[in-house]
Amino acid sequence: MAIKIKTAEEIEKMRVAGRLAAEVLEMIGGHVKKGVTTEELDRICHEHIVKVQGGYPATLNYGSQPYPVELGEDGQPTRPIVGEGFPKSCCTSVNDVVCHGIPNKKPLRNGDIVNIDVTVIKDGYHGDTSKMFIVGEPTPQAQKLVQTTQEALYLAIDMVKPDARLGDIGYAIQKYAEGKGYSIVREYCGHGIGATFHEEPQVTHYGKPGTGVELKEGMTFTIEPMVNAGKRYIKHNKKDGWTVTTKDKSLSAQWEHTLLVTATGVEVLTKRSEENF
Ligand code: MF3
Ligand code: CO
Ligand code: CO
Repeated sequence: MAIKIKTAEEIEKMRVAGRLAAEVLEMIGGHVKKGVTTEELDRICHEHIVKVQGGYPATLNYGSQPYPVELGEDGQPTRPIVGEGFPKSCCTSVNDVVCHGIPNKKPLRNGDIVNIDVTVIKDGYHGDTSKMFIVGEPTPQAQKLVQTTQEALYLAIDMVKPDARLGDIGYAIQKYAEGKGYSIVREYCGHGIGATFHEEPQVTHYGKPGTGVELKEGMTFTIEPMVNAGKRYIKHNKKDGWTVTTKDKSLSAQWEHTLLVTATGVEVLTKRSEENF
């Protein structure tokens, strides 16, 4: 399957979905503090997406029925949910959790780092974004990891324009993170996004210069580097089927944006008001 170039109408819907996903992260920030559970954060995100935005959280039941989930007039899935999908409306990945953390009943503690990853479906299109929050006072190590990971995403976004190659972008991310003594998770990557949550191309956060897909105007995809303070190796939680942690229990950070390749560069579809692109 070829990489989809979005039409002007599709791009408009991607803008709306992207803005809504960004708004969820802006909204949830004030709730992330010592003592709150990630389950409570998930509940607040869910209510906001469904009741305020009239959207649907793409992670809820993800993997449990043929994708994309088809939504009826009422915004609810039209086909029965079968099997064990992701059970919550956002991913909350705390400390050594790399990604796909399931919101739970454990209260956040001072110094925890938490990634909240939100994907909103609106009018059939997806906006996917995540950011790191630090609970209370950050340790210098956590602060540096979180900041470096954000910088890696930002330098990658800066490279996005027609004819840029994904191998060059992946290489730049890898070089930056490894240059600070960190490692890049290889098993998960960014992805094309549109009417489907995950589509071509795969956007690895490592790579070989001068290789890979050439970007074209109208492509939409995510960049979402996962950076470990220790080694790059990961472990899957076999009990819950989702949670990914670092093998050496070191801290892990991630930031994600949904991007559009424009005629001259990039539009960050999930830009928050605190950001300047
Ligand atoms: N939002 C994640 C991504 O950035 C995917 C989460 S899938 C889930 O691609 F099932 F774990 F929720
Ligand atoms: Co994504
Ligand atoms: Co995501």
